[in-house]
Amino acid sequence: MKMEPFALERWMTTWETKVQYDIAESGILPLRIHDLLDLLPESERPAALSSLVDLRLGYSEACGTAELRSLLASTYKDCSPENILITTGAIEANFLLFNILLEPGDHVVACYPAYQQLYSVPRGIGCDVALWNVRAENGFRFDLGDLEKLVTPKTRLIVVNTPHNPTGAMLSEADLRRVYALAESVGAKVLCDEAYRWLTVPGGDPFAPPMFDLGPRGISVGTLSKPFGLPGLRIGWIAARGDIPARCWAMRDYVSLSPGRLNDALAILAMRHREKIFERNLRIITANLAEANRWFAEHAGVISWNPPSGGLLALARYNLDIPSLELSNRLAERYSVMLAPGSAFGFEHHLRIGIGQDPSVFATGLQRAAVCFAEVAGKRPAAAAHSE
Ligand SMILES: Cc1ncc(COP(=O)(O)O)c(C=O)c1O
Repeated sequence: MKMEPFALERWMTTWETKVQYDIAESGILPLRIHDLLDLLPESERPAALSSLVDLRLGYSEACGTAELRSLLASTYKDCSPENILITTGAIEANFLLFNILLEPGDHVVACYPAYQQLYSVPRGIGCDVALWNVRAENGFRFDLGDLEKLVTPKTRLIVVNTPHNPTGAMLSEADLRRVYALAESVGAKVLCDEAYRWLTVPGGDPFAPPMFDLGPRGISVGTLSKPFGLPGLRIGWIAARGDIPARCWAMRDYVSLSPGRLNDALAILAMRHREKIFERNLRIITANLAEANRWFAEHAGVISWNPPSGGLLALARYNLDIPSLELSNRLAERYSVMLAPGSAFGFEHHLRIGIGQDPSVFATGLQRAAVCFAEVAGKRPAAAAHSE
């Protein structure tokens, strides 16, 4: 398999440990183990802590514990623990699915721009990948008419992602049903990357049901990374029917074998108390959305956005005569601010912003970014590298 470099990951790893104001952050501000324990009534915390500390760190159940899979299965319609396979994040879930579902030469339709894995892995397998473009002209919305033109009798898989990374666009229930019907009409399956599931945005769109719920051709991929602020647990999953979970599991035997036992235990704790985590998410998102709307209004001549309809991300367009990679590097190096270059998503003169960061970090990051824009526009002197 020949893989293209993962452009965004390469750029992120250059800066993510160096900058102070990461406002390109793709998830919600991560939780600490303490925060997870604090989700419990006070009287239950000592016993929960002891059980974590006493946990013998042997291999875990290879497909994830029955308890975790049951908790996840209960979030889908007519889903049993056998339909769920725990994976090392959504990234492994997608990777396994592409590898068991696709053969070289297969026709695949994948949304674009996208989390690069969603089209690069099918390409690496040797598939013929048609891109379903989310166009900037219509405010980064999915156009189902465009998808209809791309799907052919040879299409084996349609790959969608809602809420969408990097634009924050959402597919409505009616849209998703059309995607499913299109796939059904040609005998294809639909892989829906739902990494941003549960991340509702005030004033945004209502969430459609997960793809698994739409029928036997629907496959959902989920993760605790974004909506739970637990990317370090590396817990993702596949929800699928028939032999798909078992076939992915058989391939996973060669890759990561099983989830970490401690990670599985913490994931159970998080899943049991998810409503409290979602309340915290909403507080963070509401504060950052208000701050971002104020900031975009104040700097409307330089930068504009369509706030996310769901999830945490948006692609903002700027009117400055500088390529996005150069601008992102300048922001990181001189202003300690991370805003991801649109070029990593094929969109020049755009920056990807995430509204999941700690609100005070987010607000300062925006202020510093505005100073950088003024400097680039020639209205301020240049800042020294690594300035505070
Ligand atoms: C759309 C999408 N899918 C999958 C992933 C992978 O997430 P993880 O492996 O942390 O669950 C990401 C991470 O940014 C993402 O944005």
